[in-house]
Amino acid sequence: MTDYPIAPSISPEVTGFFDPATNTISYVVQDPASRACAVIDSVMDIDYFAGRITHDNADRIIDYIQGNGLELQWLIETHVHADHLSAAPYIQGKLGGKLGIGSNITMVQEVFGKIFNEGTEFQRDGSQFDRLFEDGDTYMIGTMPAFVMHTPGHTPACMVHVMGDAAFVGDTLFMPDGGSARADFPGGDAGELYDSIQKVLSLPDQTRLFMCHDYGPNGRDIQWETSVGAERMHNIHVGGGKSKAEFVAFRTDRDAQLDMPKLIIPSLQVNMRAGEMPPADEDGRTFLKVPVNTL
Ligand SMILES: [Fe+2]
Repeated sequence: MTDYPIAPSISPEVTGFFDPATNTISYVVQDPASRACAVIDSVMDIDYFAGRITHDNADRIIDYIQGNGLELQWLIETHVHADHLSAAPYIQGKLGGKLGIGSNITMVQEVFGKIFNEGTEFQRDGSQFDRLFEDGDTYMIGTMPAFVMHTPGHTPACMVHVMGDAAFVGDTLFMPDGGSARADFPGGDAGELYDSIQKVLSLPDQTRLFMCHDYGPNGRDIQWETSVGAERMHNIHVGGGKSKAEFVAFRTDRDAQLDMPKLIIPSLQVNMRAGEMPPADEDGRTFLKVPVNTL
């Protein structure tokens, strides 16, 4: 396994922004030694039935960054989300910063470029992003070092970003009582997801883990922070030493019963373009497609 450059003595300030429409948590992570920050997994609002896009969620984050006098250096996508649209280009347009995702975005672009019948003008080389991360890559947020762990399984491009004692797990894990995310999207694999989760759980016990989603199972309040130790002991899908075979059997069975995410069609079309809408027509109008009997 890669020798990751962990730096548990650095403890960034982490602020979560919950979107009740998609149960997504976006984060602002601040370098404790400077004004530099990163935004993880921002959300653009869509009323899909009305075909209307707004930016209330992103504006809350922009207000927070400006109100605290922070400097945005990075916009990170932990993966190509299938349940919400990214607001990264909108925030980047207002505040700057570099947009990064896992290098296997190219696999996701291949698959969904075909599914959405995109022409050759849709580049499948990840060039819509400023940085494509490989396993073990490092980058800086001000003076704070960050690194990425490639964690495929939910999707091929999933990356966990670790900044000091904080790790942003994307959809590899949910809170201990929520378990894990589905592994049945194109390019997903339950066995790979199990191995990726073990990688995350190999971080020090006290590492703070920040979820991308929480659905408040069994009526509890929404939560988004736990620790490696708590997940290792109590996660209902992988905790307490559950074997890979048990996990794969359970996950495969469960995934076969799940409906498609409500926003999968607009989300993938936009997120495979780094959060940009498809190109406008000659009159400046923008359209999303619905592939029939394909997904
Ligand atoms: Fe996801």
